[in-house]
Amino acid sequence: MLKELFLKNRSCRTYDENYKVSREELCDMVDCARLAPASMNVQPFCYRLVYTPEELSLVQPLTGWAAGLPGMKLPPEGKCPTAFIVICQDTEQFGPQERFLKDVGICALAIQMRACEMGLAGCMIGSFDRRKIHDVLGLAENVAPLLVIAIGKGDEECRITEVKDGQTRYFRDENNVHYVPKRALSDIVF
Ligand SMILES: Cc1cc2nc3c(=O)[nH]c(=O)nc-3n(C[C@H](O)[C@H](O)[C@H](O)COP(=O)(O)O)c2cc1C
Repeated sequence: MLKELFLKNRSCRTYDENYKVSREELCDMVDCARLAPASMNVQPFCYRLVYTPEELSLVQPLTGWAAGLPGMKLPPEGKCPTAFIVICQDTEQFGPQERFLKDVGICALAIQMRACEMGLAGCMIGSFDRRKIHDVLGLAENVAPLLVIAIGKGDEECRITEVKDGQTRYFRDENNVHYVPKRALSDIVF
């Protein structure tokens, strides 16, 4: 079951905008992050939900997509995610934002896997304008945005493929099918 979900869970960069992700769905995803392992069980994160048309239009231009496909406009016009979850840390209470970076990945995966299980899709976005996201979302000065996760109803085909000649960069074919090369198990286990 879980392994099937890992096979299905691909980073999505084209969404059906007709599907509006609800606040309740986003809370359900964050609830999985809440239950995730946490170093020393500190749980330093808070989660800013973005789902109104006004805030979506402010956040979307501040996110960077598919640096591995230069020249491609992703998401395409009219195919944007209909929600974002911004993982934040109160740096006054929990120290510098570099302190819990491992925890960030764990919580982000919990959120994305739950989205996948709910029939939705996501994409972690590390490439975003930190200062501007901070400001457009009206975050307090001591609250730092660490990672953005786009969420929506996926509207593209993604397939896992083998790594050939050490090439791990993702690519698309003429039908816009997105291929994600994953290294072979025999190459990574020793
Ligand atoms: C920490 C992290 C940051 C990422 N940042 C971006 C990003 O800024 N923009 C983007 O389009 N994809 C981003 N991705 C998605 C990766 O490109 C994607 O996970 C990778 O190509 C493998 O594809 P898969 O998730 O479908 O297995 C990020 C992934 C991770 C784990």
